[in-house]
Amino acid sequence: STAALAAPGLWAGCRQETTDQAEAAPPLRRTTPTGPTRTVRLRVEPIEVEVAPGRIYRTWGYNGAFPGPELRVREGEQLQVIVENFLPEGTTIHWHGVPVPNAMDGVPGLTQDPIAPGETFTYTFVAAPSGSYLYHSHVGLQLDRGLLGALIIEETTPHVSYDREYTLVLDDFLPGAPQPLATSAPGRPGRGMMGRGMMGGMRGMMGIQMPSYAGSLINGRLPEAAPVFEVRQGERIRLRLLNPSGASTFRFAIDGHPLLVTHADGRPVEPVRVDNLLIGMGERYDVMLEATNPGRWAIVAIPVEGTHAPARAILHYRESRARGLPSGLPETLQGRTLTYADLRCLEMLPARRPDRTFHLVLSGGMPMAPRWTINGQAYPEADPLEITKGERVRFRMINHSMMLHPMHLHGHFFRVGDALKDTVLVLPHMGRISFDFIADNPGRWFFHCHNLYHLENGMAREVRYR
Ligand code: C2O
Ligand code: CU
Repeated sequence: STAALAAPGLWAGCRQETTDQAEAAPPLRRTTPTGPTRTVRLRVEPIEVEVAPGRIYRTWGYNGAFPGPELRVREGEQLQVIVENFLPEGTTIHWHGVPVPNAMDGVPGLTQDPIAPGETFTYTFVAAPSGSYLYHSHVGLQLDRGLLGALIIEETTPHVSYDREYTLVLDDFLPGAPQPLATSAPGRPGRGMMGRGMMGGMRGMMGIQMPSYAGSLINGRLPEAAPVFEVRQGERIRLRLLNPSGASTFRFAIDGHPLLVTHADGRPVEPVRVDNLLIGMGERYDVMLEATNPGRWAIVAIPVEGTHAPARAILHYRESRARGLPSGLPETLQGRTLTYADLRCLEMLPARRPDRTFHLVLSGGMPMAPRWTINGQAYPEADPLEITKGERVRFRMINHSMMLHPMHLHGHFFRVGDALKDTVLVLPHMGRISFDFIADNPGRWFFHCHNLYHLENGMAREVRYR
């Protein structure tokens, strides 16, 4: 069936590649493992986390940790994750970005029932294609309680070489439980709750208590406990930047160092040199850093909506004697910002000749009607977007609201410009963007804004194969 999907016209070559080569290209989605089975156990449980010295919060996590343990496998291995639920409520895990078989996608109401308290569920899928991914709960606001982690699928033959790598999980943090929504029915997305990303003054309207924002974090640490990433002069460092946060798009930069972007949402791109980048909820970028500027440098991730303080980390050269937290903001924040137009994939792209186009208007966030909608409908009272296997599908989105919407499609990679991604930021105030994908993974898939509070207030649709 993959041969049929690689038929001329469905896939376009990146750069000069021909359709013949497209037919020979290995499919990104794989159903047969080419390596051993890796078994991982994840306990989902109440935990205590220390986000800075003495600042301990009770929350939920995987295997006692926040973020959850980094899961690292080789491309082609069969990944088997045994999930044991020790929470007082049901949970699921979604493998964000990996085109898994539908039944393994972890979306309550679409692909499975939540794993009940005390129960176990095993997710099994082929770890492919290689890339930087996330895993997280897809039930209610659980992601924002800390049920998230990095999933790294290592290349069998990396197209980039480096001496060392680090994973940076960018997050925002609400201490304690998000309050239950008084108006929501059990098991359904919340109602009447203001998006946490709304302007501060609107919080608490309609009698809903919002927990307070504790800060921005890198790898589970507040700035006062900023993680230190050590390097040696002359090394090439690979950084995997992941944003599983509940409600923050970050502008990311490292003082004294440009960033060479090598992967977008896990897919390899022609390396592009920038000074800073925007990373929305659900997006990932791999960047390469040349350690040629000894010292102790600030790494910052600034939330771009609202006025919250940046997350901070430190790039420290072993050769440097400097100590402490570098203060101030990197000059690289003033330089060149990555745009989607800068990204050129190194893999096959779906052709831009859609068989079916959906026009999708994103709106909401009005103070008296705090629903977030797609074409006026709020999930779950929303029509599925119906597609047929083998079609080329285009989503054209326009943002009628004042906030950013990182729109994420499950089960598929899509083409945006000349890049392959699975999550794309739609800019506020009439921002438009469209993407194309091939309907090659039948099932019931979720398409939604990855701002958790927009999702919970309706900004989602099912994409259903007829
Ligand atoms: Cu991170 Cu529905 O996804
Ligand atoms: Cu949104």
